[in-house]
Amino acid sequence: MVKDNLKITRDIHSINGKLLVSKNDQVDTDRIEEISKEVIVTSRVWVKLKESFLFNDFYLQTQSPPYNFFCKKCGEQLILNIFGSVAVPVSILEEYHFMRIKDDYTYRHSINSALLTICMATQFYEDRQKINQIASSSITHDLGKSRIPSNILHSSQPLTEKDYSLIKEHTIYGAVLCSYYYGNPYSENTIVALQHHEKLNGKGYPLSIRLKDDVVSFVAVADIFDALISKRPYRNEPYDVRGAIDILCQSVERGEIDEKYIKMMIHLNRREPESLLKISYSKVYRGYYPRINYYGIRREIYCS
Ligand SMILES: [Fe+2]
Ligand SMILES: [Fe+2]
Repeated sequence: MVKDNLKITRDIHSINGKLLVSKNDQVDTDRIEEISKEVIVTSRVWVKLKESFLFNDFYLQTQSPPYNFFCKKCGEQLILNIFGSVAVPVSILEEYHFMRIKDDYTYRHSINSALLTICMATQFYEDRQKINQIASSSITHDLGKSRIPSNILHSSQPLTEKDYSLIKEHTIYGAVLCSYYYGNPYSENTIVALQHHEKLNGKGYPLSIRLKDDVVSFVAVADIFDALISKRPYRNEPYDVRGAIDILCQSVERGEIDEKYIKMMIHLNRREPESLLKISYSKVYRGYYPRINYYGIRREIYCS
């Protein structure tokens, strides 16, 4: 899974303070496998999301626009049942309790991305076990963000190169944490946490592999879509749904995303009961984009 040694610049601890990887360690397949064996198996208690605080927050999102539209289209009760039946190690709930306090945006974004991913997966798969796996991995895709300093996560200005490369490390932190909590270096949770910023053309991070995996791609598309339609500190307002679709279509044109995933997102947004296989869409961009948007990297000025 991880051929090359990935570099991290921070120590990574579990929610209970156990040092999992220090900033000088090599993070590769062997290390991620070792980490998966470190938790005492008898202490790994699993809980269904239906019995957790996440379920209530998830339910509220299924009632809020625009997410309520997608849920109605796919069957609200089905979406709630799938989310509620996902089982997670209790430490994951502790992680999300911590994240809800530290970074409410990433907490809500994790729930919204799960909701969108479940909606996409119900259109693509019939196997309920597969859909549950996808739902589970979408919730933990940004787990590593909780180890990024708040001043960087909440910055209203463009980031420096250094801050941006630190943010990118959240993929490695997430894979380390998922491998530890799930006791499995090859679970969908670990793979999605590591690869959800990879691209079809190999221009993503942290591995720069060509992303072909359906599960990771569902989460990746839901992730981008939700980030665009949500309030963020670095822009004055969100994109509207059509604007977000436009941005995804531009990613298709750059070879970053397979068109079939965008068609699924467009299908979710259509009122008409149209076949997914026959869907066509206009390539004329007509969405609403925010007027002020500082997303990106700040050009640094060096004084000699
Ligand atoms: Fe991410
Ligand atoms: Fe994300």
